[in-house]
Amino acid sequence: MVLSPSKAVLPPEEGLHAGEASHSARLRSKVDLVWPALAAAGRKLLTHSRVRHLYPEYLITFHGIVRASVPLMESALDRARALGRGDRVAVRLAEYLEDHLPEEMDHDRWVLDDLEALGVDRASVLTRPPSVAVAQLVGAQYYWLFHYHPVALLGYITLLEGYPPLPDEIEDLITKTGHGRAAFRTLLHHAALDPHHAAGLFATIDALPLSPEQSAVLGASALSSAYLLTEVVHNIARHAGGEGVAGGIRPGRRTEAAGSGGI
Ligand SMILES: [Fe+2]
Ligand SMILES: [Fe+2]
Repeated sequence: MVLSPSKAVLPPEEGLHAGEASHSARLRSKVDLVWPALAAAGRKLLTHSRVRHLYPEYLITFHGIVRASVPLMESALDRARALGRGDRVAVRLAEYLEDHLPEEMDHDRWVLDDLEALGVDRASVLTRPPSVAVAQLVGAQYYWLFHYHPVALLGYITLLEGYPPLPDEIEDLITKTGHGRAAFRTLLHHAALDPHHAAGLFATIDALPLSPEQSAVLGASALSSAYLLTEVVHNIARHAGGEGVAGGIRPGRRTEAAGSGGI
């Protein structure tokens, strides 16, 4: 759950010779190139004068991304198993996905619960068409895993889990929006859980016997994800007017927590 992205959770650089960068360090150095744009988009959202009204839009948008996480990992796991024991990268990837998949189960439902706390009903979220940017972000991963190699998915997961929201940042957001804490459970859980998930992810990436081509596709996956996430976050801020059309905020029912402003 990218919010206002902080620095990546750093893995230990054990077993490396002087001057030798790990796979994950090289991957993060690529992400660093596009990081300022994503960080700026996140800051713009957090400091927006209408952040109270943008927060449900943020959750709806990220629900569209989070609901694809488990299906993407299941598809990657199937592909990794199909590549067989002779593909050592696929074997290690499958082991990682078998461990990590259960940890990401139902997180889309958590987001729906948080939206319900804001008075946005589940049906209105589930029937709303996801944006093109969200479809491009997730869709690229299906392309790589089905048509190249499922290890590409780790570049995407690096973006989504490697830069978790900070607890202070969430507390600040709670204060600024004035919404109840029940609407921030998913973010608070991810601030606590994702540093551990990131450490496991980077350790996995570092242990992979990646070919130069696989390393390149990991980078392409991470960079394109960063670019598209930046677009996704910008699109949320563009809803500041609360138009409620073409993917705008359309709560099915409202509660006190949702306030009376234009969403
Ligand atoms: Fe998650
Ligand atoms: Fe996670």
